[in-house]
Amino acid sequence: MSTRNKPDFYALRAKREGYPARSVYKLEEIQQKYRIISPGMKVLDIGASPGSWSLFVLKRLKGAGHLVAVDLESLQLKKSHRNFTFFQGDVFSQEIVNKLQQFAPFNCIISDAAPGTTGNRTIDTGRSYSLVEEIITMAKGLLAEGGNLVVKVFQGGDESQLMDQMRRDFAMVKGLKPKACRKESFETYYVGLQKGME
Ligand SMILES: C[S@@+](CC[C@H](N)C(=O)[O-])C[C@H]1O[C@@H](n2cnc3c(N)ncnc32)[C@H](O)[C@@H]1O
Repeated sequence: MSTRNKPDFYALRAKREGYPARSVYKLEEIQQKYRIISPGMKVLDIGASPGSWSLFVLKRLKGAGHLVAVDLESLQLKKSHRNFTFFQGDVFSQEIVNKLQQFAPFNCIISDAAPGTTGNRTIDTGRSYSLVEEIITMAKGLLAEGGNLVVKVFQGGDESQLMDQMRRDFAMVKGLKPKACRKESFETYYVGLQKGME
């Protein structure tokens, strides 16, 4: 079994706590630090499968507000929730964009979406850059004033330009590599707080 496939502390904890993936502890750390989600908010989760971030958000919403999640793949959540809507498809397709607009404006958009990786760092960081750039543009139209945005970014290219881009839209932008990110991973997260007025 490779190190990557061996269940580690976070994978075992996720299993014990009923989350479908260990990635939940990355969002937990972001939430502990920046308080991006609170009960009653309208939240959009982009790249939600298998569903740990969505489950974490639903717990924080405490039955109020609404969560909309999107992924190319299906979710692996056992329970249904009254304040939860899932769309399967490409978040950038016109069909999905039209559906999301019906729920907008959101108070918080979280994106753990990442491109399929090739192992070639230049290609992978380039693809991640384009994906995140599109999400930042999309968030401009879908986020409410004062809203928050979390994006996953692959490091190793021009990603500082993405942070500059976010600085134009948000009062504060922070970079954070949660402890639950695997040591060998070159992912990091950018958090935009308090979207300004257009
Ligand atoms: C790391 S996983 C997300 C894990 C999730 N946050 C969780 O905790 O369960 C990244 C997801 O992004 C999705 N994704 C990538 N590009 C996408 C796109 N254009 N539209 C929708 N989903 C996308 C992938 O299908 C994949 O399931």
